[in-house]
Amino acid sequence: MLIVGNWKMHGLQKEGLARLEKLKALVKNVASVTVVVCPPYTLLTEAAGILKNTSLLLGAQDCHTEASGAFTGDISAEMLKDAGCRYVINGHSERRRLHEESDILTSRKAMAAHLAGLIAILCVGESREEREAGNTLEVIAAQLDRCVPASATGKNTVIAYEPVWAIGSGRTPTPDEIETVHHAIHEHPRCGKMPVLYGGSVTPDNAAEILGIEGVDGVLAGGASLNPQSFAAIASAARGA
Ligand code: PGA
Repeated sequence: MLIVGNWKMHGLQKEGLARLEKLKALVKNVASVTVVVCPPYTLLTEAAGILKNTSLLLGAQDCHTEASGAFTGDISAEMLKDAGCRYVINGHSERRRLHEESDILTSRKAMAAHLAGLIAILCVGESREEREAGNTLEVIAAQLDRCVPASATGKNTVIAYEPVWAIGSGRTPTPDEIETVHHAIHEHPRCGKMPVLYGGSVTPDNAAEILGIEGVDGVLAGGASLNPQSFAAIASAARGA
């Protein structure tokens, strides 16, 4: 089971580091559960120090396709690795929507993550219109065809199924709908042995049910990961699943 917290653009030094300290105290080492926190870039180096010798691992929310160079404002996967990260999120729907990032760019970013020795968390998901039109599985399959690079294996890549309409909305698909999509991802020719996470409005209240669905290997939580108690409760729901 893999539980990932995506803080998005939240967390100044004082408050962000205090949140990590609280998490460190609340999340206990459980052999079968891996817990990853993805704070903003500005907190990564300090976060790595705080999380050292704990069961919590560090991740980032995005990376560039190149290792270094004239790319003003960008951060490479190599830099993230150097800062203490083990994971990086690629192709989050907010990157796709607000920064016009494509599947192909996502694939190149994931490849850069692999080259740097990071585990890529590749996000896919359908829009509300695509779901209502009955196209969810086709949309997800097409995204996976394009955004899972040839370098991806079950060891260096995690797929996160995040329906765009479920993110931050308080709405989630039904357990059957989640199971159907996770089954399709596990069966996709490019995704052999990769863990598949569910993301989108995961809370302590629905975590146990979602984590109990066949084919769900963990969750990616946004809003709920900003509250240490809530995030720790989601991590402990993974113990029982
Ligand atoms: P949410 O975000 O849990 O706040 O819906 C999930 C995500 O964007 O990864």
